[in-house]
Amino acid sequence: MSGIPHDHYEPNTRAEKWLHNRLPVVSLLYDTLMIPTPKNLNWMWIWGIVLVFCLVLQIATGIVLVMHYTPQVDMAFASVEHIMRDVNAGWAIRYVHANGASLFFIAVYFHIFRGLYYGSYKAPREVTWIIGMLIYILMMGTAFMGYVLPWGQMSFWGATVITGLFGAIPLIGESIQTWLLGGPAVDNATLNRFLSLHYLLPFVIFGLVLVHVWAFHTTGNNNPTGVEVRRTSRKEADADTLPFWPYFVIKDLFALAVVLTAFFAVVGFMPNYLGHPDNYIEANPLATPAHIVPEWYFLPFYAILRAFTNDVWIVIITSWITGGIVDAKFFGVVAMFGAILVMALAPWLDTSRVRSGRYRPMFKWWFWLLVVDFVVLTYAGAQPAEGIWPAVSLIGAAYWFAYFLVILPILGIVEKPLPEPQTIEQDFIDHYGHKDDGAATGATASNPAE
Ligand code: HEM
Repeated sequence: MSGIPHDHYEPNTRAEKWLHNRLPVVSLLYDTLMIPTPKNLNWMWIWGIVLVFCLVLQIATGIVLVMHYTPQVDMAFASVEHIMRDVNAGWAIRYVHANGASLFFIAVYFHIFRGLYYGSYKAPREVTWIIGMLIYILMMGTAFMGYVLPWGQMSFWGATVITGLFGAIPLIGESIQTWLLGGPAVDNATLNRFLSLHYLLPFVIFGLVLVHVWAFHTTGNNNPTGVEVRRTSRKEADADTLPFWPYFVIKDLFALAVVLTAFFAVVGFMPNYLGHPDNYIEANPLATPAHIVPEWYFLPFYAILRAFTNDVWIVIITSWITGGIVDAKFFGVVAMFGAILVMALAPWLDTSRVRSGRYRPMFKWWFWLLVVDFVVLTYAGAQPAEGIWPAVSLIGAAYWFAYFLVILPILGIVEKPLPEPQTIEQDFIDHYGHKDDGAATGATASNPAE
């Protein structure tokens, strides 16, 4: 694919030329900052920057927390209390880190559903999507291990339940579980390796984010129309785009300020709202809490995990076919990971030639139902597995799989899409003004100050 035509960095002075011939780092930064960006991007395109901010925030606050934390089962809980009471601004750093994880996941869910609605996963952005999915899985692993570190009741029992899932894998499960835990149960060895990995994985995520950005800089951003930037001439490309700096930097910073206002209101006024009170009780392997609930961002997948009980027909049939090797627990584990896998496969399951959901009248309904499904699964995941909740979780899980495996492939064939705009420029004019209106179209990538 040929890139979008735009200005490139030209070293002028002798010093600039000297550096450029040895390490073209200024050129790289220039190309990254001045990248032509579709000028019709809406507010759903802010979450990428919020995510970058969260990653940096988590690493920065995490590094300070680790200076005062002790990864030893008899001292971990007390060391967190020491951070809260004795360390200068320790309470603030800890609350920012704990709530920062929630902001990270809020942002990633908006980011993912934005991609699902506007078809950002479709060719040629499949690699961006797959890298994103890898990041998401690593985010879950990192958050899960981080939650174990304060060594409260939910830390301990959450870790016991979730690592127990690996034990459900037929034949090799128990060995895997022991290997993960560093022993037969969640204990000191577990705490140590979880801290080690919790510190390491954010840097792996950082590396993947660079690849993620590289991938979508190669293809160019998608946009709300799903129509590609014209690349045939510089003039046409300029009419569809604006340089990232300063236009989108300012827009993103404004959005970040709004998001952070809400974030710091939560950190300041209700820092424990999203946490579980039981995690302020030190871990006790002899006392199981009444309800073991994971953090909110795991709940949809936790609901899917618990949806497949022994009386569900598909579990009964699978168990019968495999001679009992696949039981309800193992089925649930496969379903939970499968739910993420089918989402990762969206680029190949969606058969529609139209990218953006804006021009897909039938798709829209199913998409919004998926959003509702996600919210319902989140709620169901927090309820005890009794009454109507197992049935609600099962219906929710079924719809999640049906959306990706059945609805997306069929819609592309049966749906009659609405006409798309010819160009991004056209969409922009339709929304923000007339072609002759200088305020709307005057600034271009080649002449941003015009
Ligand atoms: C640490 C986590 C992540 C960071 C820092 C990050 C960062 C970004 C940024 C800065 C952009 C461009 C601006 C924007 O679209 O907001 C972007 C685009 C994109 N991201 Fe992510 N992302 C992350 C996770 C994910 C995940 C989990 C997915 C889903 C699988 C994903 C899928 C995409 C796609 C498909 C695009 C191209 C979208 C487009 O231009 O329309 N990202 N990402």
